[in-house]
Amino acid sequence: MGDMSATTFNAVGISGSPGARSKSRALLERALVALSDRGATATLIDLAALPADALLGRRRADAVDSALGSVSRATIIVASTPVYRATYSGLLKVFFDLLPLNGLVGKTAIAIATGGSSAHQLVIDHGLRPLFASVGAVTTPTGVYGTDSAFENGVPHESLVARLDAAVAEAITLSERIHAPTDSSSTTFVES
Ligand SMILES: Cc1cc2nc3c(=O)[nH]c(=O)nc-3n(C[C@H](O)[C@H](O)[C@H](O)COP(=O)(O)O)c2cc1C
Repeated sequence: MGDMSATTFNAVGISGSPGARSKSRALLERALVALSDRGATATLIDLAALPADALLGRRRADAVDSALGSVSRATIIVASTPVYRATYSGLLKVFFDLLPLNGLVGKTAIAIATGGSSAHQLVIDHGLRPLFASVGAVTTPTGVYGTDSAFENGVPHESLVARLDAAVAEAITLSERIHAPTDSSSTTFVES
């Protein structure tokens, strides 16, 4: 198995919050720092800073094309979103709508969301996992959901950070397996 911590790999974070002091983005930034500590080249795409009409597909814009290019070159994708109306934000949705069919095949994904309460924590399993699967990404078993009360002055509680660290470790392991060269000599056949 390849040791990704010894090589450079690309991680891209996609922030789907329009908020200037975003909690979901704070979690995303921590995940990117953890990935970069493990040897990743980490890039953050702030969807709120991209031109809205290009995000809606009404025109092309270099900034949006460049964001899509970063995603296509990445091996690990981390997406963060606030819960809006029980699911991920429209901002995140319109960006995913611009991805080509099977655009995230071969990539590993981490799902992060924050919400006002735990009522909509299934956004991870019923919203973000299917969203990633629709474009071919494999999501980590651990998803990260935080309520607003799990932050103090914008800083997430330790338990939330521990989940983030677990998700990052899983993403690296999964990505290593996906990108490991196949060794046909080690294939074993069992006769029945
Ligand atoms: C338009 C809007 C809709 C929201 N809908 C929900 C919701 O359905 N469920 C929920 O738990 N929180 C909801 N919230 C609260 C946000 O999800 C929550 O404050 C979140 O942590 C904000 O993330 P951010 O700081 O990254 O923008 C909503 C907030 C807004 C502004």
